[in-house]
Amino acid sequence: MKFAVIGGTGRIGSQVVRKLTAAGHEAVPAAPSTGVDLITGKGLDRALEGVYVVVNLANSPTFDEASLDFFRTSMHNLLAAGERAGVRHQVVLSIVGVDQVPQLDYYRAKTLQEDLLRQGPTPYSIVRATQFFEFMDAVFADTSDGDTVRLPATRLQPIAAADVVDAVVEVSTGTPLQGIRNVAGPDVFPLDELGRLTLAARHDTRTVVTDDKAGMFAVVTGDVLTAGPDAHLASTHYQDWLQNA
Ligand SMILES: NC(=O)c1ccc[n+]([C@@H]2O[C@H](COP(=O)([O-])OP(=O)(O)OC[C@H]3O[C@@H](n4cnc5c(N)ncnc54)[C@H](OP(=O)(O)O)[C@@H]3O)[C@@H](O)[C@H]2O)c1
Repeated sequence: MKFAVIGGTGRIGSQVVRKLTAAGHEAVPAAPSTGVDLITGKGLDRALEGVYVVVNLANSPTFDEASLDFFRTSMHNLLAAGERAGVRHQVVLSIVGVDQVPQLDYYRAKTLQEDLLRQGPTPYSIVRATQFFEFMDAVFADTSDGDTVRLPATRLQPIAAADVVDAVVEVSTGTPLQGIRNVAGPDVFPLDELGRLTLAARHDTRTVVTDDKAGMFAVVTGDVLTAGPDAHLASTHYQDWLQNA
């Protein structure tokens, strides 16, 4: 079975290409660096020739309001090209609880991406993952100032990128879900606690100050970003992953 992995040079995409290939599939990475641009449409028709499944793991270059245009245009172009090529399954990687956080531009953009996929002409699957372990350093850096890192106590249930890859491969090689598969890590942490655990494991002497107004996750309340009862829980624990990161 032939797969086009859009964003196949990225963090998740490159691992998905490797895993599909190892399982005996033909998996072709498509990204600007391989001559395929979802925004201009350049190289897209050729990239989808003979493709059965499109796995869309492309990401917007920014997380601000411009991300709405990125996901609108990219989905429009990708769904149209997929229909021309006779693609049978379109898969998108999204975020657990994404439609519950309209205050964040990027989450609104990902919700729009999901909506366009649902309304599109092709059978589809949405994999919603929680925040990647690998994304946490960027979160801490965002509100880091000298000796302190300010973080809210927002409840997160992060997941290892490798476990997200497994979920994406499993869904992409299956029958279209016409719905959502939620995947999450095994443990829930308040974000400030996650920061303390991480700094301690790295022997980083900065102090985490709990600040419910700091950073992008400050707008999130309650359990909207943690897994519901239907979620598939991955096996990698954050603290075990930290030992080897
Ligand atoms: N971070 C999280 O915690 C999290 C949680 C849940 C879901 N997700 C979702 O996971 C997905 C993948 O994230 P990631 O971290 O693997 O992304 P990433 O490492 O930033 O990779 C992004 C990929 O998109 C490609 N790309 C950028 N602009 C493009 C364009 N115009 N046309 C085609 N491809 C383009 C890049 O290609 P080049 O290499 O050529 O630039 C790269 O291959 C995203 O959709 C994100 O929303 C993330």
